[in-house]
Amino acid sequence: MSEIKFFLGDEYPLEFHKVRVVQKLHLVPIERRLEALREGGFNTFKLQTTDVFLDMLTDSGTNAMSDNQIAAMFQADDAYAGSQSFARLQKAVEDVLGKKYLLPAHQGRAAENIIANAFLKPGQTIPMNYHFTTTLAHIQDKGGKIVELVHDHALELESTHPFKGNMDIDKLEATIAEVGVENIPFVRMEASTNLIGGQPFSIANLMDVRRVCDKYGIMLVLDASLLGENAYLVKQREEKWKENSMADILKMMTGLADIVYFSARKLSSSRGGGICTNSTELYKTMEPLIPLYEGFLTYGGISIREIEAMAVGLYETLDETMISQSPNFIKYLVEEAEKHGVPMVTPPGVLGAHVNAGKICAHIPQTQYPAGAFAAAFYLISGVRGMERGTVSSVRDENGVEILSDVELLRLAVPRRVFTLSQIKYVIDRLAWLNENRELIGGLKFVYEPPVLRFFMGELEPLGDWPERLMVKFRQDFGKSL
Ligand code: F0G
Repeated sequence: MSEIKFFLGDEYPLEFHKVRVVQKLHLVPIERRLEALREGGFNTFKLQTTDVFLDMLTDSGTNAMSDNQIAAMFQADDAYAGSQSFARLQKAVEDVLGKKYLLPAHQGRAAENIIANAFLKPGQTIPMNYHFTTTLAHIQDKGGKIVELVHDHALELESTHPFKGNMDIDKLEATIAEVGVENIPFVRMEASTNLIGGQPFSIANLMDVRRVCDKYGIMLVLDASLLGENAYLVKQREEKWKENSMADILKMMTGLADIVYFSARKLSSSRGGGICTNSTELYKTMEPLIPLYEGFLTYGGISIREIEAMAVGLYETLDETMISQSPNFIKYLVEEAEKHGVPMVTPPGVLGAHVNAGKICAHIPQTQYPAGAFAAAFYLISGVRGMERGTVSSVRDENGVEILSDVELLRLAVPRRVFTLSQIKYVIDRLAWLNENRELIGGLKFVYEPPVLRFFMGELEPLGDWPERLMVKFRQDFGKSL
């Protein structure tokens, strides 16, 4: 936390928790890592955790839970209907997010499915600051389209703009004029815009979006999966809100939206999801879809134990020492990597550190997936598993032509309170080495390409023998080191 000053001059994030349960990690030799990559089609989603040293794939369902969350799981009221665990969750949603109605869904994308089913008609358009992969997939699945309205600076990867997740209000007005109000069932704002590097929006911007929505009578939907971190960065970066509590900031943001939905795998360090609102009418429109797609209204496909953990986790998002831990580690990782010449997305965002793989692998055309190649190369030389966030995670258009991603990133997730600072330093060390040896990295091509969300299960193959050559260089430089 910022109030800690150090005598020796170094600045680093200090943990405000202690480790009480541990899990052993394995760092297998690079030769085995190459085999594992081959077995997994050069796709980090397809690696087994026994081959992974630091699992930085995602923070989804992998944040460390608190002792109080684990304890709460033991008092779960197992009941199909009317569970008191759900009543406790509803109370937490009302206290923390300020919404009285809660519809449970088994995870964030299930909430997206319900919302799209309830409100979207084929041919309609959803304006948003930026898409998330599952959001886009559900909108397209229902015959809808999206338009992304982040401001022009949002895609500048190296920037000092504090709120790259802001929506461009002029673009929103222009979209409404072009598409027509009747073709826009809702506007979507995503907290801590995931795919552009975990970048927040400001409250001032959300208020502007709300004003436009009110002007035209359009509903505002907030994706709150990363809302806690967005609130923390508002507190850090938006002058007007510096003195406010996390509770005030969270409620201010959710209060501006008609519908708030979330992946509890992120928001409350548990597993599950939900949709909440204060509107009886909106609630009633979505209600019948929950038993159809998710489960009864008091569990929605979520384990009752996790519902208890969600309730406690929601209250814990109000704790600044908890919520600041991951952003502060990410900031350290980004700033130290940059000092060693590694191009990173700046300012540091949330969820993870984002490496500008497009810049490092500028010699690899986007059709050969530079970020995918960099993710595979980084796993090979470090045992650290990150996630490609570039053209592999994109889609093809209706003619089968690749839609090249705006950005080619390797995301190294820093789940809450999971990694130690020495592990973060190891990541920086290996990133610096790979950046120096970047010319050895080559492209990839798909050998199996699923039609939807291809990045999850797709399989690729290297173009040439670059992984072997990278391994030889690793052995030259590091000898017998793991
Ligand atoms: N919205 C946002 C902003 C997300 O980051 C995610 C998930 C979802 C919705 C979907 O939620 O996974 O519970 O179904 N993000 C994860 C990630 C998968 O790794 O960034 P889900």
